[in-house]
Amino acid sequence: MLISIKGVLTAEEVAHTLNALKNADWADGRHSAGYLSQNVKNNQQLPDEDPIASELGEVILNALQKNAVFTASALPLKVLPPLFNRYSDNQSYGGHIDGAVRPIAGSPHRIRTDLSATLFLSDPDSYDGGELVVNDAFGERAIKLSAGDMVLYPGTSIHRIESVTRGVRLAAFFWIQSMVRDNSQRETLFQLDSAIQSLAADVPKHASLVELAGIYHNLLRSWADT
Ligand code: NI
Repeated sequence: MLISIKGVLTAEEVAHTLNALKNADWADGRHSAGYLSQNVKNNQQLPDEDPIASELGEVILNALQKNAVFTASALPLKVLPPLFNRYSDNQSYGGHIDGAVRPIAGSPHRIRTDLSATLFLSDPDSYDGGELVVNDAFGERAIKLSAGDMVLYPGTSIHRIESVTRGVRLAAFFWIQSMVRDNSQRETLFQLDSAIQSLAADVPKHASLVELAGIYHNLLRSWADT
């Protein structure tokens, strides 16, 4: 399941981020690619421990903590500090799969990449190409969102970034280890939670709400690692 989350960052936060990234010290993205990905990756990235990336990443992590859709859909256990990338001049990133386990820079810890996230930062009218194309159960889907919006997709998906043929595409990207590692279990919980929320909005005192909430929590208790 692909989940688009609108307005993760406000317009002010996007403007602040874009401004800070103008003076950033971009590096060749191939340095951080795995053996196979090096052949298809052509972009720029901020190094993991770049202070600008850390500062901007904090803004994103704070915004995510307040985002109910992110919490309900990702059921996050650990979120890797966001990284930033830049594509221009026909740069692209061919089909690849993200590594299943990633180190947390500057720490001895690792996370399992259950979910991948891309937070779009550039106005989509300011560049051509640059779609994130994800292969999921329904085939290929091309994603290009407004600045400040984010897409979550399963870490199990093969995906690519189309060539940027005009302008500059800036984005943040990161990974999430979920309390529920299995994609279909996590999706079931999100669908059940959404159905309970909409029933509660329509019929606030419906007698079955407590039972449904109980089923949700009992499933989560069965499936979650914390
Ligand atoms: Ni990737």
